[in-house]
Amino acid sequence: MERTYIMVKPDGVQRRLVGEIIRRFETRGLKLVALKMVTPTREIAEKHYAAHKERPFFGELVDFVTSGPVVAMVWEGTEAIKLSRSMIGATKPLEALSGTIRGDYTTELQTNLVHGSDAPEAATEEIALWFTPQELTA
Ligand code: RTP
Ligand code: MG
Repeated sequence: MERTYIMVKPDGVQRRLVGEIIRRFETRGLKLVALKMVTPTREIAEKHYAAHKERPFFGELVDFVTSGPVVAMVWEGTEAIKLSRSMIGATKPLEALSGTIRGDYTTELQTNLVHGSDAPEAATEEIALWFTPQELTA
């Protein structure tokens, strides 16, 4: 069993896609371990995307993810990290296949609806960044 950090980004909340995104994870068989809606501070957004801080798009990425409420979640299941990434779809819009969340609902690189941890170390860090231990159900 593995845990991963999944976040519906501000565009997903604005477009009323929270239920659809949660439904996909639930029906696939993952277990919801934690969930909350928050408008991220710049501090948490910069920490969340720290791996990208030297990239030219970092400022825009932080502006975007702090632009409104997000739905922060932890999901658990077998190979949950890779499984979630495959359900979310590729970062590059032309590579996001139909049947994935991005492939079905967006054409854009920035407004791509959902984040998923990309590796076990990232998942551990992101879960600890967004949730206290008490917020995670056993
Ligand atoms: P995320 O972290 O949000 O789940 O997205 P990801 O793993 O698919 O992509 P990542 O490489 O981690 O990039 C984070 C977000 O930065 C934006 N991006 N812009 N202009 C660019 O070349 C570029 N590359 C990435 C995307 O919005 C991506 O989701
Ligand atoms: Mg990423």
